[in-house]
Amino acid sequence: MASISYILLLIFSFFNLVHSASNASSINVTKHFSFHDFSFTNNSRLVHDVKLLGSAKFSDEKGSLQIPNESEETDIRHQAGRGLYSFPIRLLDPITKTPASFQTTFSFQLNNLTTASDISDYGGGSGLTFIIVPDEFTVGRPGPWLGMLNDACESDYKAVAIEFDTRENPEFGDPNDNHVGINLGSIVSTKIINVSDIGVSLKDGFVHHAWIDYDGPQRRIDIRLGLANQDVYPTKPIFSEFMDLSPYLNEYMFVGFSAATGNHTQIHNILSWNFTSTSQAFLRYPSSETCQGKIMLEKTTTETTAAKENSKRNETPRSFLIFMASVVLALVVLIGFYFISKHRKRAAKSNTSIDEEIHRPRPPNKPRRFRFSELSSSTRSFNEIEVLGSDNRGVFYRGKLANGNQVALKRFSAQFLSTHGSDKKRLLKEIKVISHVRHPNLLPIRGWCQDNNEIVAVYDFVPNGSLDKWLFGAGVLPWTRRFKVIKDVADGLSFLHTKQLAHKNLKCSSVFLDVSFRAVLGDFGFVLMGAESKQFESVVCNGADVFEFGVIVLEVIGGRPRVEDTEEGKSEERNLLDFAWNLHEINDKGKLVDRRMGSLINLEQAIRVMEIGLLCTLNENKGRPTMEQVVEFLHNMEKPIPELPKTRPVALFPYNSANTGLCNNYSCTLKL
Ligand SMILES: *[C@@H]1O[C@H](CO)[C@@H](O)[C@H](O)[C@H]1NC(C)=O
Ligand SMILES: *[C@@H]1O[C@H](CO)[C@@H](O)[C@H](O)[C@H]1NC(C)=O
Ligand SMILES: *[C@@H]1O[C@H](CO)[C@@H](O)[C@H](O)[C@H]1NC(C)=O
Ligand SMILES: *[C@@H]1O[C@H](CO)[C@@H](O)[C@H](O)[C@H]1NC(C)=O
Ligand SMILES: *[C@@H]1O[C@H](CO)[C@@H](O)[C@H](O)[C@H]1NC(C)=O
Ligand SMILES: *[C@@H]1O[C@H](CO)[C@@H](O)[C@H](O)[C@H]1NC(C)=O
Ligand SMILES: *[C@@H]1O[C@H](CO)[C@@H](O)[C@H](O)[C@H]1NC(C)=O
Ligand SMILES: *[C@@H]1O[C@H](CO)[C@@H](O)[C@H](O)[C@H]1NC(C)=O
Repeated sequence: MASISYILLLIFSFFNLVHSASNASSINVTKHFSFHDFSFTNNSRLVHDVKLLGSAKFSDEKGSLQIPNESEETDIRHQAGRGLYSFPIRLLDPITKTPASFQTTFSFQLNNLTTASDISDYGGGSGLTFIIVPDEFTVGRPGPWLGMLNDACESDYKAVAIEFDTRENPEFGDPNDNHVGINLGSIVSTKIINVSDIGVSLKDGFVHHAWIDYDGPQRRIDIRLGLANQDVYPTKPIFSEFMDLSPYLNEYMFVGFSAATGNHTQIHNILSWNFTSTSQAFLRYPSSETCQGKIMLEKTTTETTAAKENSKRNETPRSFLIFMASVVLALVVLIGFYFISKHRKRAAKSNTSIDEEIHRPRPPNKPRRFRFSELSSSTRSFNEIEVLGSDNRGVFYRGKLANGNQVALKRFSAQFLSTHGSDKKRLLKEIKVISHVRHPNLLPIRGWCQDNNEIVAVYDFVPNGSLDKWLFGAGVLPWTRRFKVIKDVADGLSFLHTKQLAHKNLKCSSVFLDVSFRAVLGDFGFVLMGAESKQFESVVCNGADVFEFGVIVLEVIGGRPRVEDTEEGKSEERNLLDFAWNLHEINDKGKLVDRRMGSLINLEQAIRVMEIGLLCTLNENKGRPTMEQVVEFLHNMEKPIPELPKTRPVALFPYNSANTGLCNNYSCTLKL
């Protein structure tokens, strides 16, 4: 059975008695996952959940995660590999510097190599570690380094490893070729346990079990090791001491395994793994003074001021956002269940419904028509305090439906409707069409409203807010997250285009991040063009989407908005697209990359992605790719991309960040 489970448990504890005057409450966030084995047959999501790096593979016949990836033609000496859980785990509360508690259990087998020519090569090279590392795209050095430490940035690489070492490297202080060590940011172990003492031989070729328990608040680590082929929980740990991991942890880290071979080789197999972590955080209630709630949700207009404010507040808003997100998610799920059962009962009773469309029992997620009164009361009569943002198309509101579900409402402005939506029927039709399209990277539409000369689109509420907040605000998204966002946006957009639909309002503020930082596209443009045929329209608008996607790519890499506030002396950098093309011309594209990301950036990858972005801004008949091609370029990083023109094409069409066109650059596109 596939047994990957992901449970997000949220337990509130309100310290009412002790801290009655406190604004903060403590919250436990628990993450759990488990792999009974690593076979594709049993885990359909294996490739998605575990990221392999370097020489590593899933061995289907053994059902294991294997390092190195041995094959006839390759030399498996001097190989290093990692297998990491693909999603970051919260392991430190940045405010209190308290590490998370975690428990992990895994079984492993370090196999005798029967192909070795020399008897002394049987096993013993080099070892396996359970690692906690800051990124999920680099591999460590092979040989005695066990794939743990990273070459690129050794000095500031935070990492923790529990090593199961089968080779003696006296230069690293190894006592023998059969020990467990605790490595804190260094390959030289802080603590070493000679496991020969307890009668265990790590490289005897049998299956061993290990249990690692860390109590974050107490800062105590317990390591247990089972005897060969026995998975009974040993009551006595082989190691149990106080140890502060917090200096070696970031708030979010990746967990998994690394292993390496040197002049001597061995095959390292992880056969099963489960992991649970609990991190404690303090949830601060937003008050009207601190206005934290608003900062996270406000839209683009106050970006710069919000950024300044946020940076003063250090990491608080970021953690706050994530916990708010988790809380809201849990509530929505609970209340959702409650509502479904209640709604069914009610629907069964009322046969005499006035509006069939509203009262017919329906699957809870099916988009439906809303009454204006319903939406009005959900937003306290479209009260200003519920405003999330606004643009030239209308105002975004946060709303809470009678069933408790949180939604985001786009209320199209009267001015917009009078200029672009003269044919309201068609606008509504477009909303309905898009609301039936479902994709993991598209924000679900809950429904629409067409009363009182109003048109409102109702979306799921995404508590993490929009991408512009994360890019241009206080927190710094790491490169891997940014790359993921770009791929997510491309996937969502490409899917829309295959359905002959277009987004028509693509910009950073219409990309939202869900609880797991998956990017979803929302705030669709919806507008249909007057007399044009559907096919013509889809060609034009898809092209405009691709162009806007290219600009978003540049914004994500550069961490700066497409048009910066005019500031004397910075004019050459004012327009991001100009700036990027200029850098391309002088072959200095690395300069666009957001420096705040520090050393943990895959520059080669970033430059390739930037080139893909620039391709998207070419004229349509001069090499602008389709989203389908873009997705291929992004998912297959080996695939060659067409060469960019040496200099910026003269006719590169201008763009307008205000997106005043019907489908963005519609009018410009027509000129080509
Ligand atoms: C949170 O977890 C800690 C230890 O992991 C526990 O002591 C505490 O009681 C938990 N809090 C709640 C509210 O469950
Ligand atoms: C919330 O915190 C503020 C400042 O930290 C304090 O003045 C106020 O009394 C607190 N309110 C409550 C209800 O605890
Ligand atoms: C393992 O090695 C083989 C042969 O070199 C290669 O075809 C395969 O893609 C590798 N597997 C992984 C997961 O890298
Ligand atoms: C898949 O799971 C079943 C039942 O848990 C187990 O018997 C089988 O060996 C597993 N398959 C592999 C390839 O590990
Ligand atoms: C490790 O333990 C074994 C068995 O107790 C012992 O013979 C050996 O000397 C120990 N090695 C070291 C370096 O202490
Ligand atoms: C591995 O090799 C050693 C030494 O040759 C041997 O004692 C041991 O039994 C082997 N283990 C397995 C599982 O074959
Ligand atoms: C591997 O073997 C070569 C040649 O025998 C030697 O120069 C090198 O130092 C060895 N490397 C390690 C890590 O032992
Ligand atoms: C983790 O795995 C161990 C050993 O397979 C098992 O005893 C334990 O119950 C598992 N824990 C969870 C939470 O799945």
